[in-house]
Amino acid sequence: MNLSLETLLARTGTEPDERTGGLAPAIHTATTYAQTSSDAEGAFIYSRLGNPTRQQFEESLATAEKGRHALSFASGMAAAMTLLQTLEPDDHIILPHDIYFGVRTLIAEHFIRWGLRVSTVDMRDLTAVEQAIVPNTRLIWAETPSNPQLTIVDLKALAALAHQAGARLVVDNTWSTPLITQPIVHGADVVLHSVTKYLGGHSDVLGGALVFAREDNLCHRAKALSDQGGAVLDPFGAWLVMRGMRSLAPRLRQQSASALAIAQWLETRGDVEAVHYPGLPSHSGHEIARNQMALWGGMLSFQVKGDAARAMHVVHKSRLFANATSLGGTESLMEHRASVEGLDSPTPENLLRVSVGLEHQNDLMADLDHALSV
Ligand SMILES: Cc1ncc(COP(=O)(O)O)c(C=O)c1O
Repeated sequence: MNLSLETLLARTGTEPDERTGGLAPAIHTATTYAQTSSDAEGAFIYSRLGNPTRQQFEESLATAEKGRHALSFASGMAAAMTLLQTLEPDDHIILPHDIYFGVRTLIAEHFIRWGLRVSTVDMRDLTAVEQAIVPNTRLIWAETPSNPQLTIVDLKALAALAHQAGARLVVDNTWSTPLITQPIVHGADVVLHSVTKYLGGHSDVLGGALVFAREDNLCHRAKALSDQGGAVLDPFGAWLVMRGMRSLAPRLRQQSASALAIAQWLETRGDVEAVHYPGLPSHSGHEIARNQMALWGGMLSFQVKGDAARAMHVVHKSRLFANATSLGGTESLMEHRASVEGLDSPTPENLLRVSVGLEHQNDLMADLDHALSV
């Protein structure tokens, strides 16, 4: 039967357990497995190399992303680190100008020392991307919507540019999740996730994943790094993420609907300078987003009229949005992103990033109204 993505997500890990019939996945905590002479290839040996609960999660995510193989990690950054470690000294990668600052910092502080060459471009400008490509370009790294300015990039066009150059396109799909965008369908070669966010969905599990469009050399190299480096997702973490995936669709639908209402309302306010949300017709990436996003998403950012102190004031006056980093949980969060990103942050000083939770949208708007007005 050809099942819709929502059905697949709702049933993540719920196949009846072969031994007990249990409809929730088991958490396999064994670190080592008795070996028999008849063991088939792929049998479990040692939990760093493979674990049944982790494998169940990886297979579910690979299916949801329409990929061939997934690997899961102890965090989104461990996934990013592993992917970068597949590269050689002197390899070149292209990063977007607006990107999760953790990835930018990891590359600047560690991978430049290792010999990686990096160009940073505004990927909305495809000519700029094309001009940045050099013979040893191996990866184009995209985020759409980007963190924290919600720029939208055209994945099909980026994939075409990458492939013409013999490079690969990796898409950090943490913000969209496969429910909103399946980058592999648009030509991406690798999808990266911080499963800490929407997939886990409850701010109680740290994890990451890489999904590969093909089981190719890159996939095998990342698997070897994972096996040997060992930054793998623990079984309880994998179980929590599968539990989160079962309710991803209704959570993200409500969060997207509330985020759209909040973005539309913020745009009407005189004390707000700009609202960044792909669901707004005024957003520069609105038309591309229409073609590549099934929902507009639960994240938005906005710039208050005024300086950093004014933006911080709004955060401190809010009573419902917790002043906390991270995103994708059931609780709404708001943070002054430039402070979190530190001195080199390219984020405007008056920008606030918002992760819309599951509270009633009217309560969220009343709270923002209060925070902006006092
Ligand atoms: C878009 C994006 N990618 C990657 C990460 C890193 O993930 P983790 O915190 O799970 O290491 C984050 C974390 O905020 C993120 O927002």
